[in-house]
Amino acid sequence: MPLILGIESSCDDLAAAVVRDGREILASVVHGQDAVHAPFGGVVPELASRDHVLHVHHTVERALGEARVGLAEIDAIGVTQGPGLIGSLLVGLCFAKALAYQTGKPLIGVHHIEGHLASAQLADGEGAGEALEPPFLGLVVSGGHTALYRVWSLARIELLGQTRDDSAGEAFDKVAVRLGLGYPGGREVNRAAAGGDPAAIRFPRPLLRDAGLDLSFSGLKTAVALEVERREREAGGALPRAALADLCASFQEAVVDVLVEKTRRALERTGLRRLAVVGGLAANTRLRERMAELSRDKRLEVRFPRLELCTDNAAMIAAVADRAFLEGRTDGPDLEAFSRVPLAGLRARGADR
Ligand code: KG4
Ligand code: ZN
Repeated sequence: MPLILGIESSCDDLAAAVVRDGREILASVVHGQDAVHAPFGGVVPELASRDHVLHVHHTVERALGEARVGLAEIDAIGVTQGPGLIGSLLVGLCFAKALAYQTGKPLIGVHHIEGHLASAQLADGEGAGEALEPPFLGLVVSGGHTALYRVWSLARIELLGQTRDDSAGEAFDKVAVRLGLGYPGGREVNRAAAGGDPAAIRFPRPLLRDAGLDLSFSGLKTAVALEVERREREAGGALPRAALADLCASFQEAVVDVLVEKTRRALERTGLRRLAVVGGLAANTRLRERMAELSRDKRLEVRFPRLELCTDNAAMIAAVADRAFLEGRTDGPDLEAFSRVPLAGLRARGADR
């Protein structure tokens, strides 16, 4: 029953968690920075890493305190190694290294996307009495990534398709900024779409007819911006509430249509019967609804992490580290951070620092 301390700082959230046995969350603390970046409408890397420096110590202390666990009882320290913003990653990584050195505990570097995929395995996700057993199809939809993976096992993950440009989360965030809904705006667009007509405006569904499993969202984002401009001009100012709801619902439906269709195709192509939908957009109510429908139609076993585990957190990092710890795969003080790195390539040369 290993006890793992997880630390995650790849972007604008600083998170620490204590997880027992790779599944049971004793504490999961997230220190967010929305207020820091909101005036800029997006994450400012330098501000993110500076804020991490200020908060890493007490966030880790809070997680240990909430879990009622002393450092001495921890079996290993798992930390996100990449991909992400290099300055942000280095804060968590250096802190984890220092802690490992001070306590003599093993250090384990974790790939951020492997973390998201493992988040569907943490206890008490929706519909998750038991961990989702591989092989399964993993749809990762977040601010930084939109991709489909065949998870043969949590140590062997194959990329099936990914976005060619923006992530789905970026599209949500940019639409939100354009509509004055704030940053990060995915959740606000989701809220504003409530009661709107998803068929009011027919936005493009990029690459929907393309037989492959790649995705694209930048054209959709531009189509929405042009439509907003046109409607605001007609309305002579900001859109009335009902028109805003229709616009958000129509945009959301276009994103969800593409994600559901590509997922359906990936399931058919691979013959997989299990599905995990993870990452910040897995919190989207319409995506959850439509994926649940797809799963009922196809009699799939489906998992969505519970809402606070969809966005970046350290419990998912601890879950991956738990497996590595059990397999005896630990790292040394030379562990490096990578801003871009494929799933199989954390230790491979050629990753971008
Ligand atoms: O996984 P995450 O915390 O960070 C990355 O690894 O990128 O995902 C954050 C993204 C943001 O783009 C945010 O706007 C979006 O997830 N998001 C949502 C919702 N909640 C968060 N997008 C749509 N609907 C939501 N309910
Ligand atoms: Zn993430």
